[in-house]
Amino acid sequence: MRIDIITVLPELIESPLNHSIIKRAQKKNLVTIELHHLRDFTTDKHRTVDDYSFGPDAGMVLKIEPIYKAIEKFKSERQYDEIIYTSPDGEPYTQKLANYLSTKENIIILCGHYKGVDHRVRENLITREISIGDYVLSGGELAAAIIVDSVVRLVPGVLSDETSALTDSFQDGLLAPPVYTRPAEFNGWRVPDILLSGNFKEIEKWQMEQAYERTKRLRPNLLNDD
Ligand code: ADE
Repeated sequence: MRIDIITVLPELIESPLNHSIIKRAQKKNLVTIELHHLRDFTTDKHRTVDDYSFGPDAGMVLKIEPIYKAIEKFKSERQYDEIIYTSPDGEPYTQKLANYLSTKENIIILCGHYKGVDHRVRENLITREISIGDYVLSGGELAAAIIVDSVVRLVPGVLSDETSALTDSFQDGLLAPPVYTRPAEFNGWRVPDILLSGNFKEIEKWQMEQAYERTKRLRPNLLNDD
């Protein structure tokens, strides 16, 4: 899988992509993640990436020309399955969408910024708009990092124990059951006896019940979703 990220603040995404699982995935050549500075696709001498919006709204808007140039260049090099724009008014991001994106070969993510992007970009160049939640970030970079992290860990071979992504919260539509480690008792707080019983069938049943109970209590909406 290859992910090209277009941004005016690559520094903001570099760190999360260069640690732990995502770093290892790149080292193992399971994924290629390229950060591209939007300024590198400008043609004017000031390397301008944004401008005042038409109309009374204050705030800077990302210009269409460098974005068009970047996307056209990437598309001339390979076929892209999705060209994503991160924005608070996009489609809500879910595990289901992460699963879908993890099956794709090539993805572009354009990070939103300031007051947004010239709307012609959204109308003509983008295939999908994603929001990571109903709150507003300073820019789309952190949203892009979250999308990349959640997608890359699902790419086959990235997690050493493949079943561990399957037991994540949300993968079966439920929150994950609680987990414990040694000591079995700390400060008078005991690990549930069932987990110490060695009866794997009963443990699995208990985990399923816990997952269901936690979901019903904490996120009942998940039980109603398809
Ligand atoms: N950019 C700013 N806020 C955002 C959000 N909630 N999701 C995605 N991109 C954003």
